[in-house]
Amino acid sequence: RISYVNGRYLPHAEAKVHMEDRGYQFADGVYEVCEVARGHIMDMSGHLDRLDRSLGELAIAWPLERRVLPAIMREVVTRNRVRDGLVYLQITRGVAPRDHAFPAPSTRPSLVVTAKRSDPQAARRRAETGIAVITVPENRWDRVDIKTVGLLPNVLARQKAKDAGAQEAWFVDPDGTVKEGASTNVWIVTADGHLVTRPADTGILRGITRATVFRIAEKLGYTVEERAFTVEEALKAREAFVTAATTVVMPVVRIDDKPVANGHPGTVALSLREAFFDVAE
Ligand code: PDD
Repeated sequence: RISYVNGRYLPHAEAKVHMEDRGYQFADGVYEVCEVARGHIMDMSGHLDRLDRSLGELAIAWPLERRVLPAIMREVVTRNRVRDGLVYLQITRGVAPRDHAFPAPSTRPSLVVTAKRSDPQAARRRAETGIAVITVPENRWDRVDIKTVGLLPNVLARQKAKDAGAQEAWFVDPDGTVKEGASTNVWIVTADGHLVTRPADTGILRGITRATVFRIAEKLGYTVEERAFTVEEALKAREAFVTAATTVVMPVVRIDDKPVANGHPGTVALSLREAFFDVAE
């Protein structure tokens, strides 16, 4: 495996940043994960737009010109012979003596890019079974719209799901409405066949897969409502599913050990999943 670190392509085992990197010490950095399908990096421009926004919100400079990044990502994909899998990239505020305030302006942000293969058949089998989710109280900060590497609440929530035999955890507000998963956006299909997903400006990450699935759904003739929904509504829904670059569209068949509808993946989720691989760039 080959990874990119600050201008160099290195064997993965040698792909290292310094212990005083601010990503390591303060989680002072941002990241993106892109899906690779049949050799194509999906929604690249959407991911780079969001990266640009995340960097801007945290006042982290681009470590290189934005227009250079796609070539580096493609190079890492090619060098690792990834046909189906993921590209991960991370930019931190760089290496500097530990001090909470920003380091000297001359500090160069760190950039790492890695890629790995995944098994599309295994993912499809998973989608045909569906996943179980648990719900956890929302306990994250109010800037989850920034894709930072500060993910401890997400880590703890996902481990709690795993311990419960589930695959994802949904953060739920005190009013009972579902925010999003630990690393996914959430959707339901109502009894009258409408898709519902939480507005992206209400305490969630604006998912790139969410936007693509939104477009695909409208193209397929579905009505998509952007509004909050409760766990109770999700349990009564015809279908529930999650979206992310890592899972694409993944049916949810159990919430806190209670079945969604008949407890099997729904046709809307599965058809959106299929269409995603045809439509996305
Ligand atoms: N996570 N919400 C959260 C909290 C996420 O971390 C992610 C993605 C999403 C979905 O966004 P997108 O469709 O752009 O992948 C929503 C990535 C995949 C991860 O942390 O691995």
